[in-house]
Amino acid sequence: MKLTSVIEMELETIKNIGIVGVGVMGPGIAEVLAIFGSSYDFTINLFDISSEAIQNAQKRMEEDFVKVESVGIFSKEDLQEARNRIHFVTDLNALKESHLIIEVIPEKLNLKQDFFKQIESLVSPDTILATNSSGLSITAIAKDTQHPERVIGTHFMNPPLLMPLVEVVKGKDTSDETISRIIGLLTNVNKRPVLVKKDIPGYVHNRLQAAVFRELMHLVDTEVMDVEDLETTVRYGLGLRLPVMKVFEMVDLMGLDTIKNVLSYLYPALDRSTKPPDFLEEMIGKGTLGVKTGKGFHDYSNADMTESMKEKEAATFQLLMMMQQYD
Ligand SMILES: NC(=O)c1ccc[n+]([C@@H]2O[C@H](COP(=O)([O-])OP(=O)(O)OC[C@H]3O[C@@H](n4cnc5c(N)ncnc54)[C@H](O)[C@@H]3O)[C@@H](O)[C@H]2O)c1
Repeated sequence: MKLTSVIEMELETIKNIGIVGVGVMGPGIAEVLAIFGSSYDFTINLFDISSEAIQNAQKRMEEDFVKVESVGIFSKEDLQEARNRIHFVTDLNALKESHLIIEVIPEKLNLKQDFFKQIESLVSPDTILATNSSGLSITAIAKDTQHPERVIGTHFMNPPLLMPLVEVVKGKDTSDETISRIIGLLTNVNKRPVLVKKDIPGYVHNRLQAAVFRELMHLVDTEVMDVEDLETTVRYGLGLRLPVMKVFEMVDLMGLDTIKNVLSYLYPALDRSTKPPDFLEEMIGKGTLGVKTGKGFHDYSNADMTESMKEKEAATFQLLMMMQQYD
């Protein structure tokens, strides 16, 4: 069977979607499904245990819809229809008929395990149960469920509307059918799903990020380079190539023999710490936590971060449009 027909078939079976947890990530995931899934006319029900979280989410979603309208890709009418697909509910029982549940509650294993056990008793045995966990084991999250074959990771990046990547994470018992239904759905809502075939801590994206962070922190700690020069090295060296060139293409260009010679002497020299550096703890102790306290590696005391993030999101969108020519 062709992938497209699998995708079409699967979308017919996913109509009602329940999203649980409307903090930072939940509302954005709902917006993706409502806006990009227009031809499938999903019904999306959002639930949270906190009425304050629901109020904040409603306000933020209104702002997001205004932002999306200003980009000019979707008409006012289309966006109004998308808004109409989203419903806030105050009783978990309202998610009973869902074909897919996406859990977006805090990153605590016991909370997620309890939730999966609870939701399983409410929905049909073939409802897919997805978690937006950033790196917890899917197998552990599914531990107390009767049907772990329908439990899967869907790790959206922040902000979900802008970031195309979604890691689809297979737990020990996740079935191929669950994987294909979820990949079909995500592809149809304009995302770029990638399959993480083994349930390893941090999945793949956050492991790559942590590997870069470890070496950067080490270079700061050992006073090899100042922070500003490290920023320049990443942005104007490695970083500048990535939007237009694939990493393994870079390796191919260097030549596998050359890269092997370089890695042979470099691997032993790289940082292999198994814990974060002590200087990070010292900075935390002094209250330099980053943007939230006005100072981290950089100074934000005079910065308007809301405005700055808006500009950066708009620039990221332009970059994304350009990048797609180099796929
Ligand atoms: N914030 C990010 O940048 C980001 C990025 C990718 C993935 N994630 C992952 O997404 C998940 C959610 O993160 P977040 O940042 O949106 O969290 P958050 O703390 O902002 O929001 C979580 C929401 O869940 C609600 N909640 C808690 N327990 C609940 C329950 N039992 N039932 C219903 N609602 C409940 C809370 O009231 C809160 O509104 C986590 O697993 C996190 O690791 C977060």
